[in-house]
Amino acid sequence: MNVDARDWELKALSAFEAEGLLAGLAELLVDAVESGASIGFLPPLALAEAEEYWRGVLAAMRAGERELIVVLEQGAVLGAVQLMCEMRANGRHRAEAGKLFVHRRARRRGLARALLGELERVAAGRGITLILMDTRQGGEAERLCEVLGYTRWGEVPEYARSGDGTLHTTVFFYRRLVERG
Ligand SMILES: CC(C)(COP(=O)(O)OP(=O)(O)OC[C@H]1O[C@@H](n2cnc3c(N)ncnc32)[C@H](O)[C@@H]1OP(=O)(O)O)[C@@H](O)C(=O)NCCC(=O)NCCS
Repeated sequence: MNVDARDWELKALSAFEAEGLLAGLAELLVDAVESGASIGFLPPLALAEAEEYWRGVLAAMRAGERELIVVLEQGAVLGAVQLMCEMRANGRHRAEAGKLFVHRRARRRGLARALLGELERVAAGRGITLILMDTRQGGEAERLCEVLGYTRWGEVPEYARSGDGTLHTTVFFYRRLVERG
C-alpha cells in the first residue's frame, strides 16, 4: 500500500501518547531492521525486543532527554525520528537526530524530509542550535542528509556491523540551526 501526502500527519508525541502507540512503533522498528537499516539492531528483531526498546525511549522522554516525532496515517505509525538531547551542562545547545525510519510501504513520499523538518522545529523550541546525525555510507539516509544541506564532517571505517555480518563505514553530519552573525 502506498500513501499519499494528503493522508498523513506529523506529530511530536508526549510519552503518554507514545505509550498508546507502542505496538505500531514496535512494528515500524522491526520493518526498518528487516529492511537492512543501520539503526543499532541486527535482524531478526523480535516484536517483544522492539517493544522493550521503545519502553526505554519512553523513560528517556519522561526524563525530558528525548523527543519523539512520528508520521501517522489513520492511527498507523508510518515513520519516526528522535531528538536525543545532550544533557551535560556544556552541550545543552546540541542534540542528535537518530533512529530515523520510514516504513517500507511509505518511502520516497517526503516523510523523512518532513520528520527532520519537524525535528528541527522542536529542537529550535528547546533552544537547540546544533543537530548531529550519522548514517551508513551508501545508505538511503546519506543522500537524504546531503539533499537537506547537512554538513559532512567525517567518515569512520568499520564503525558498525551490518545484518550480513560485515563491518561498514559510517558517515557523520551536522547542521547548525542558526548561523552566527
Ligand atoms: C532513509 C529513510 C528514512 C528515507 O525516508 P523517505 O521517507 O523515503 O525519504 P524522503 O521521501 O523524505 O526522501 C527525501 C530525499 O532523500 C533522498 N532519498 C531518500 N531515499 C533515497 C533512496 N533510497 N535513494 C536515494 N536517495 C534517497 C532523495 O533525495 C529524496 O528526495 P526525492 O524523493 O525528491 O528524490 C528511509 O529510506 C528509511 O527508513 N531507511 C531505513 C532506515 C535508515 O537507514 N535510517 C537512517 C538511519 S539515521
